[in-house]
Amino acid sequence: MTTYSQLLKSLPNSPKKWLITGVAGFIGSNLLEHLLKLDQYVVGLDNFATGHQYNLDEVKKLVSDEQWARFTFVEGDICNESDCHKVCAGVDYVLHQAALGSVPRSINDPITTNATNISGFLTMLTAARDAEVTSFTYAASSSTYGDHPALPKVEDNIGNPLSPYAVTKYVNELYADVFARAYDFKTIGLRYFNVFGKRQDPNGAYAAVIPKWTAAMIQGGSVLINGDGETSRDFCFIENAVQANLLAATAADSAKNEVYNVAVGDRTTLNSLYGALQSALAENNKPYTNAPVYREFRTGDVRHSQADIGKAADKLGYQPEYRIIEGIAKAMPWYIENVG
Ligand SMILES: NC(=O)c1ccc[n+]([C@@H]2O[C@H](COP(=O)([O-])OP(=O)(O)OC[C@H]3O[C@@H](n4cnc5c(N)ncnc54)[C@H](O)[C@@H]3O)[C@@H](O)[C@H]2O)c1
Repeated sequence: MTTYSQLLKSLPNSPKKWLITGVAGFIGSNLLEHLLKLDQYVVGLDNFATGHQYNLDEVKKLVSDEQWARFTFVEGDICNESDCHKVCAGVDYVLHQAALGSVPRSINDPITTNATNISGFLTMLTAARDAEVTSFTYAASSSTYGDHPALPKVEDNIGNPLSPYAVTKYVNELYADVFARAYDFKTIGLRYFNVFGKRQDPNGAYAAVIPKWTAAMIQGGSVLINGDGETSRDFCFIENAVQANLLAATAADSAKNEVYNVAVGDRTTLNSLYGALQSALAENNKPYTNAPVYREFRTGDVRHSQADIGKAADKLGYQPEYRIIEGIAKAMPWYIENVG
């Protein structure tokens, strides 16, 4: 039995109170769905900056009335001290997901990204410390590896940040580290590597590559590839990221005050991703045969990314259950139903 399967078995027997910030977003709403299905109590905070009420409505349909009654939603801002204190009251585990994602957004508007991702992070961290929560797990990012050339990426070897977004996520790690030393506060940073799955927003200028391309393919539009298509990423299906969060929150103290890569350990080029999405669409009777359109490389993007997940495996018992092809196969019907 894996550490995760043991946890899934034990959690419903001793329900805890969880706080998910960014609960109306992609990762937050998937965490919500899993925790409610495990009969946990959940408080969710979101200001709908990039999240949507319809994500919460969808989760409501996927759980029982009794499970949904265990969820309290607070519309509020992680930059607002009183909102943060309110949602932390009585909480055991914090899963802090709220942030403004996207490298290009941060390049276009570094001030807003900084305010949410650094001031908002610090406000949440302080409120969680004051509320004496058991643990504070937060969304860090593979962008922290910046220009460090080594592959696969190992947690201790980081380079220079390539975007304001990457700076903000690194500052989160520095604050978390200092809160451990100054206040003996327990945190875990999860460096996500290109997470994908249902409810990831395909719309807007800052959409991530998988939902953006999938929607374009379903709607018969063009797929634009930045650069030559040989840029590579370690795409991580949402179920793996959920697993990492639940393991991190409930980990032994010896595993806390660390950062962990959350990925699969694979490397997929954009050209291969394009082919994988085409195949998944064909399997769902939605063939897409247009050729992709290549354009300039995008500023701030790292060329290659692939995680060493050994540390998360050793210290958290993390064992990703889905590789990219399996994740795409699971996510595709949702995209066909929701953006078709
Ligand atoms: N998706 C990925 O591949 C990926 C990779 C690395 C890191 N991350 C990080 O994971 C976290 C979740 O990302 P996601 O993909 O679910 O993005 P998302 O945009 O779908 O979710 C973020 C949520 O945070 C909310 N939010 C933003 N600013 C807020 C504020 N000031 N107050 C309250 N709520 C606020 C948004 O409304 C949204 O619901 C983010 O911290 C992101 O930086 C994601």
